[in-house]
Amino acid sequence: MKLPFNIIWHDRLSSTNTTLQELAERTPDLPSGTVIAAREQTGGRGRLDRIWISGKNEDLTFSLFLRAGPDLHRLPSVSMAAAVAVADFLENGGIHASLKWPNDVLVNGKKICGILSEAVSGGVIIGIGLNVNMDTTGHIDQPATSMRLESGKHYDREPLLQGLLEKLVPHLAAWENHGFPGIRKSWEARVTNLGKPIRLRDGNHERNGVLAGFGEDGELLLQTDESTCIPIWSGELTSPPRTRHHP
Ligand code: BTN
Repeated sequence: MKLPFNIIWHDRLSSTNTTLQELAERTPDLPSGTVIAAREQTGGRGRLDRIWISGKNEDLTFSLFLRAGPDLHRLPSVSMAAAVAVADFLENGGIHASLKWPNDVLVNGKKICGILSEAVSGGVIIGIGLNVNMDTTGHIDQPATSMRLESGKHYDREPLLQGLLEKLVPHLAAWENHGFPGIRKSWEARVTNLGKPIRLRDGNHERNGVLAGFGEDGELLLQTDESTCIPIWSGELTSPPRTRHHP
């Protein structure tokens, strides 16, 4: 993967993914490594049509363009490679992070980073929202945290972005060269619920089973009974079913 990154900072944007998508569509030779970052993002988009809330002048919201081939089945796992890089980056800063399929980065079970990858002509856009200096999370509809809440420190976002991009390079290179198998080891080392009961929600549909592992493209393998293992490509992991204790 080639360096350097070309980082374009904006004071205020609706969504860095949308702005970078528009740029990629009108610039057929857009170089891999082009980054759009926003000091304030007002219409952040999340997975499953959710919104992504970030603090004005507090958090990191950016999107990276990566030139990639047309084999779309590989694309979901690029977010997993980015999640591994974010977790490693946090770990280097003394914050222990774990991963939740498909691409959430958690600290003590609370979400600190979300990733939204979208295919565009010529490649993929990897959008990353990292809670950096947020000091309250009551306005977020799920357990959340930030680097500041975990470490007590305040961070300058521009050097932080540079450091994170550098951490992304080896993981994205491994993904470019080998797909999910290139990052499997690092991914599995940070997943906390491997071999454990899980519940998966996809729209209104819920399934229970055991997280048996991950397939060659990063799809989740859900063991629903002794002889059935289903590949799952999208959805959300929720709390596992509670075990009933009979008196
Ligand atoms: C999720 O967990 O649902 C994914 C959230 C992704 C948010 C980031 S912030 C930067 C980029 N721009 C967006 O509009 N979304 C992504």
